[in-house]
Amino acid sequence: MVVLKENLMSDDLMEKLVSLCKRKGFIFQSSEIYGGLSGCWDYGPLGVELLRNIKDAWWTSMTYREDIEGIDASILMHPRVWEASGHVDGFTDPMVEDQKTNERFRLDQLLEENGIDVTGLGTDEMNVLLREHDVKSPKGNALSDARQFNLMFKTFVGPLEDESARVYLRPETAQGIFVNYLNVQQAMRQKLPFGIAQIGKAFRNEINTKNFLFRVREFEQMEMQYFVAPGTQDKWFEYWREQRWNWYQRIGLPERKLSWHEHQGDELAHYASAAFDVQYEFPYGPGEIEGIHNRSDYDLSQHEKFSGKQLKYFDEESREKFVPYVIETSIGATRTSMACLVEAYHEEEVKGDKRVVMRFHPRIAPIKAAVLPLVKRDGMPDIAHKITEDLRPYMRVTYDEGGAIGRRYRRMDEVGTPFCLTVDSDTLEDQTVTVRERDTMEQERVPIADLRSHIEGRMDSWQVP
Ligand code: GAP
Repeated sequence: MVVLKENLMSDDLMEKLVSLCKRKGFIFQSSEIYGGLSGCWDYGPLGVELLRNIKDAWWTSMTYREDIEGIDASILMHPRVWEASGHVDGFTDPMVEDQKTNERFRLDQLLEENGIDVTGLGTDEMNVLLREHDVKSPKGNALSDARQFNLMFKTFVGPLEDESARVYLRPETAQGIFVNYLNVQQAMRQKLPFGIAQIGKAFRNEINTKNFLFRVREFEQMEMQYFVAPGTQDKWFEYWREQRWNWYQRIGLPERKLSWHEHQGDELAHYASAAFDVQYEFPYGPGEIEGIHNRSDYDLSQHEKFSGKQLKYFDEESREKFVPYVIETSIGATRTSMACLVEAYHEEEVKGDKRVVMRFHPRIAPIKAAVLPLVKRDGMPDIAHKITEDLRPYMRVTYDEGGAIGRRYRRMDEVGTPFCLTVDSDTLEDQTVTVRERDTMEQERVPIADLRSHIEGRMDSWQVP
């Protein structure tokens, strides 16, 4: 078996992946029959399963412990939330306009595409570089000076479409956690340090969308705010960096493809006093999939000020009241699903044939096992149906009797199904089936009665390459 993926150029790989995602029901362009809507994608039957498995892996790692509670806050919030959080004034990107075509571009991205390093620079400094290097638009036209563009989508609540009814689609899920922090703490009788986790949609009117699911306008975040006593934030920041780094193994992203990026100067978000990104090595270079931020007491203090409500924590031991500090872990579920798709895609040569195989970690694979009767006679389909029904309450399985066995294996390889269970004439005799593993293509006989424990055991002991 020869692995061919490493030979693929980045554009090639992305093109093949996008095509497979559509063909096999992972990802479709939003509103495709109308020509699509830029920056929006739909998860198909296998995509939604993949995404759900990633979210489940995160949710259980975060909330199946004593010190973290989950919530699901509404997307629309009181508009003052976004004034308090600083998003109305500060959640902007520098934008320049092609003076001929009026197309708009993000200045920092445009400079980087022209080989100019903008790490830590503010808009004014980038403007200077734009002129110094005489950077033109991708169509070769002159560009306007940069202005700040606010990324929040705006809409109205109720029938009046005026300023008094203005609300925003949340650009991060975090604020739903901050405004509920005392509700959760009191309802669940939590003591510091404790966290609140949430998974949900977020919306950003990105100036330019790019790279498939990487930078989109509607996406899902998985965020956790960990509330700690002032003075202990550095310790917890390091703790959460380590925890999050180790989690990626659980979904099959190998350590060698991950890196840290520390935010410097103007790169830091308006709320953060320290920030590290976890980056994944995408085919076109490293890209952020998660941010770990020290948000200090910024958000809760701002909400106290803007709401006029006390958000202080009462420490029973010291008898003191204070605003907790917050360590945030913020990961894009959709962006992570893209990293998992990229990581999984492999082309291999097997006995002179090309095989495309999605090598997902079994934990996140959309379908865990396919049950395949070797032929459509001699009672094999009945046994295969029975195996399928018996496994179904415990894992996502599928039944397939269409076509030669080799072709059925390839179909399952292409959607990343880790185990194929083949019912053949021996099954009729000894109540065993052939279990064929996707990556090694090795086969072994396993008693039907042991299939569930065999598959679960293999999933638990799976080694990330
Ligand atoms: N609450 C903090 C926060 O939202 P962020 O670094 O702006 O921090 C966190 O976003 C994560 O959300 C990113 O690491 C990324 O995975 C995801 N994300 C942000 N913008 C995105 C976009 N336009 N498309 C897809 N995912 C995005």
